[in-house]
Amino acid sequence: MNSPGPAGDPGEGLAGGQGEAVMVLRRAVAGDLDRLVELDDLVLGTEAWPVEVWRANLADPAQHYWVTLVGGVVAGSAGIALRPSWAGIMSLAVDPAVRGHGFGRRLMERLMADAAEAGSKRVELMVQAGSVPAMTLYRSLGFAEKGLVRGYYRASGQDGIAMLAELA
Ligand SMILES: CC(C)(COP(=O)(O)OP(=O)(O)OC[C@H]1O[C@@H](n2cnc3c(N)ncnc32)[C@H](O)[C@@H]1OP(=O)(O)O)[C@@H](O)C(=O)NCCC(=O)NCCS
Repeated sequence: MNSPGPAGDPGEGLAGGQGEAVMVLRRAVAGDLDRLVELDDLVLGTEAWPVEVWRANLADPAQHYWVTLVGGVVAGSAGIALRPSWAGIMSLAVDPAVRGHGFGRRLMERLMADAAEAGSKRVELMVQAGSVPAMTLYRSLGFAEKGLVRGYYRASGQDGIAMLAELA
């Protein structure tokens, strides 16, 4: 699949007439599968989910996946699992070509709204230790660090940091 539209020009497709960001957000569908896998590979490398995992997660009614589009191409994705007693962020990835334009925050705000609408009292996630952009975003949304899990990311051997947000 092709790269997202703005790969050569990070601004193209992002600016509206007044210089405002135009952000398209929608639920992910089965037809997004190839691009989601491609984006995952690009962003997460060895920690990316195999296509079978993506297919199963997209088909799971207890998981919500959202995508942001630039020029009609998926440029970011995020997902949450909503179980009766537990909600957990499953994924968050934004194409490096379009970072810093608010896509990650918009995706996370949508997931947190999903959790609130589902009646979740708290949301958990695991993040790679040292992922400053992601951790800064999570802290700004009310997440606090709960613990370190050494070697959580098996392919890379990186440690994971568990974070938790209490919902009002
Ligand atoms: C984390 C990630 C999704 C952020 O996406 P993004 O679209 O660039 O984020 P946004 O532009 O919406 O920025 C949201 C916030 O993230 C934080 N942030 C983003 N880039 C940052 C950077 N380089 N340094 C520090 N904080 C940063 C800021 O708190 C920012 O807040 P602001 O809205 O006040 O500017 C993106 O960097 C990414 O895909 N990283 C790799 C994958 C990853 O780490 N996923 C999380 C797995 S748990």
